[in-house]
Amino acid sequence: MRTGLVFLLALMAMQAIIPGSSSASLKLGYYKYECKGAEKIIRQTMANFIRYNPTVAPSIIRMHFHDCFVRGCDGSVLIDSTASNKAEKDAPPNNPSLKGFEVIDQIKAKLEAYCPNTVSCADILAFAARDASYYVGGINYNVPAGRRDGRISIDSEVIQNLPAPNFNAKQLIGNFANKGLSADEMVTLSGAHSIGVSHCSSFSPRLYAFNSTHPQDPSIDPQFAAFLKTKCPQGSSNDPNVFLDNVTPTRLDNQYYKNLKYKRGLLTSDQTLEGSPETANTVTMNAKNYRAWSAKFAAAMVRMGSIEVLTGNQGEIRKKCRVVN
Ligand code: HEM
Ligand SMILES: *[C@@H]1O[C@H](CO)[C@@H](O)[C@H](O)[C@H]1NC(C)=O
Repeated sequence: MRTGLVFLLALMAMQAIIPGSSSASLKLGYYKYECKGAEKIIRQTMANFIRYNPTVAPSIIRMHFHDCFVRGCDGSVLIDSTASNKAEKDAPPNNPSLKGFEVIDQIKAKLEAYCPNTVSCADILAFAARDASYYVGGINYNVPAGRRDGRISIDSEVIQNLPAPNFNAKQLIGNFANKGLSADEMVTLSGAHSIGVSHCSSFSPRLYAFNSTHPQDPSIDPQFAAFLKTKCPQGSSNDPNVFLDNVTPTRLDNQYYKNLKYKRGLLTSDQTLEGSPETANTVTMNAKNYRAWSAKFAAAMVRMGSIEVLTGNQGEIRKKCRVVN
């Protein structure tokens, strides 16, 4: 308890001195006057959805990540394609695996009825991701707000900006550095893979087509690989889902890092964190200390949530999250 508190205080002090580590333009309690009760409406709606369907939690956390890494946290991932524009949500990393758009639609509809033209889709997503983390066992962290919605969403920008599941540690560090996030934050945020699922196609080369001398990735525990092959048969016509953390698949905890220690990471981008000198120590620390990881995860979510945000009179407050005004 005490060490947890001291750690939190140290973390807050670090935040205060690292330049650019918190976005000056986003504010805590932003909707306190503009739309009092907005956060409560979001939280209650999330509670209802998650109670009915727990897979909503990982979907919304991932959606916030995919929003923030492409044109910043501006709600661009929510925009539908049109006849003349293929949008982010239809790019391969999002379609068909990104889910939960109807959750954001329902929250937005409630908030438009409650206080029209006030709460941005980008802020809704940031709050909803926090609430999703909270309901699956994460820390109840505060989310600074005041994001405005972007008006542009382009499918080709998704592959250019999101990390791929076959990236190695160096590539992942570089990808997150491009967004102003540290290697420690990258490893810490990857702990989101302690919940949710992946399609077999995102990792099956590790099982069947690693390289010309090794059909199977030697960095997978052979027993785990054998299990995964039963879930992902070669040449199967559909593309089944497998839990990212097979031990506690619905708890946002540090089991993910413990799995990596046993060579039971699902994606190349997961297991490489344990096998690379740049990131191995953070994996070990996160595996050992649930509380410290949990606090770092919350802080890193806030930092991710402030990437390249639109504020002030930039962008707009969309009326419907799927279409620009
Ligand atoms: C470090 C680089 C990352 C890579 C390469 C990566 C890649 C992936 C892939 C390939 C999937 C499975 C998609 C599918 O095939 O269905 C996935 C799922 C997921 N990712 Fe990541 N991811 C990364 C970081 C993150 C971060 C930073 C977060 C959030 C903070 C996150 C949250 C999730 C969640 C929650 C799921 C499960 C989604 C669901 O069950 O609907 N990921 N990720
Ligand atoms: C295949 O991967 C193994 C293990 O990483 C490595 O030792 C070997 O050199 C690789 N073979 C080729 C042809 O790249």
